[in-house]
Amino acid sequence: MLDRPMMDPRELRNAFGCLPTGVTVVSLNDEAGKPTGVTVGSFTSLSMSPALCLFSLGKNQASARLFKENVPFVVNVLSPELADVAWQFAKPLDDKFEGVAITDTLVAAPRLSDCIAHFACHTHAIHDGGDHIIVVGEIMGFDHEDGDALIFYRGAMHKPAAL
Ligand SMILES: Cc1cc2nc3c(=O)[nH]c(=O)nc-3n(C[C@H](O)[C@H](O)[C@H](O)COP(=O)(O)O)c2cc1C
Repeated sequence: MLDRPMMDPRELRNAFGCLPTGVTVVSLNDEAGKPTGVTVGSFTSLSMSPALCLFSLGKNQASARLFKENVPFVVNVLSPELADVAWQFAKPLDDKFEGVAITDTLVAAPRLSDCIAHFACHTHAIHDGGDHIIVVGEIMGFDHEDGDALIFYRGAMHKPAAL
C-alpha cells in the first residue's frame, strides 16, 4: 500500500482554487418532493454519445444522500447576475429555493430561471471518489443561450473579462 504524504488541506484547497471553474446549481426534489439543490463547481462534460456529464459531491453534504440511480436532476449554469443564488445554494438552508423562481422541465426536477444553460438529467451511475461521490448524469435534454458564465476563482465569484 502506498504511503500517503502529509498534506495541509487548506493549502490543497488553495491550489485547487487556482483553476477557475464555472458555477452551477444542481437542483432536484428531496424524498418529500420539496425542491432543493446544491452549488457545484465540479460539473464537467463527460461523453457525447451517450450524452453524459459528471460532478462530484462531498459524502458529508446533506444533498449527497439524494443522488441514487435514476434520480432526475437539473444542472443550471449560472450567469454573473446569479452570484447571490450561488451563495444561497452553498449554505445548509432549510428552504434553498426561497425567493428563487422555478420553471418546469422535461425531467421531474426543478429548473432555475435566468440561467445561460440547463442540462436535464437522470442519474446514470455513482462512483466512489475518496471523500466525494462522483455523480454521472445522462442528459435527457438541454438548452443554452448567449451570455457570460459566472466564474469561481481563488474563493471568490468573478465575471469573465476579455483579454
Ligand atoms: C462556487 C462553489 C462551488 C462548489 N462546488 C462544490 C462541489 O463541486 N461539490 C461539493 O460537494 N460542494 C461544492 N460546494 C459546496 C456546497 O455548495 C455547500 O457545501 C452546500 O452547503 C452543500 O449543500 P447541502 O448541505 O444542502 O448538501 C461549492 C460551493 C461554492 C460556493
